[in-house]
Amino acid sequence: MRLSCTINGEKREVDGVWEGESLLYVLRERLGLPGSKNACEQGECGSCSVYLDGVLVCSCLVLAGQAEGSEIVTVEGIAEGEELHPVQEAFVGTGSVQCGFCTPGLIVTTHDLLARNPRPSDPEIREALAGNLCRCTGYEKILDAVRLAAEEGAL
Ligand code: FES
Ligand code: FES
Repeated sequence: MRLSCTINGEKREVDGVWEGESLLYVLRERLGLPGSKNACEQGECGSCSVYLDGVLVCSCLVLAGQAEGSEIVTVEGIAEGEELHPVQEAFVGTGSVQCGFCTPGLIVTTHDLLARNPRPSDPEIREALAGNLCRCTGYEKILDAVRLAAEEGAL
């Protein structure tokens, strides 16, 4: 089937999509957008988080066909051209990136949190990030990144 949607502000059409294919597969394997990571493919880790019509979703759980006509924003689309978004800068600046597998999902989730709540408390940050698993950092640096992005008024 053909999938038509808008990705990071650009109209895209993808032919030959299988009905059972995930949006994550289309993004990574058909459209060359490897930012969203495939770490579990079961909706457990949040590494594949993207916006679908403004709503944060795990793209591994969205069938590509469900995205027909939708607007999708990935971690690549959060950057401002060649410039990193302040949320992305905050993750780099606090040393929150080790293997980096969880980082794209955490950045999209943090972006979503700060758009809704620009000055979240620590419990609110922890709750927002509860669906994003990191196997490397122990989370303290990640919390620092979210606090820094909030302090700097990233959104
Ligand atoms: S790869 Fe989608 S939630 Fe883990
Ligand atoms: S930095 Fe490796 S999984 Fe989070």
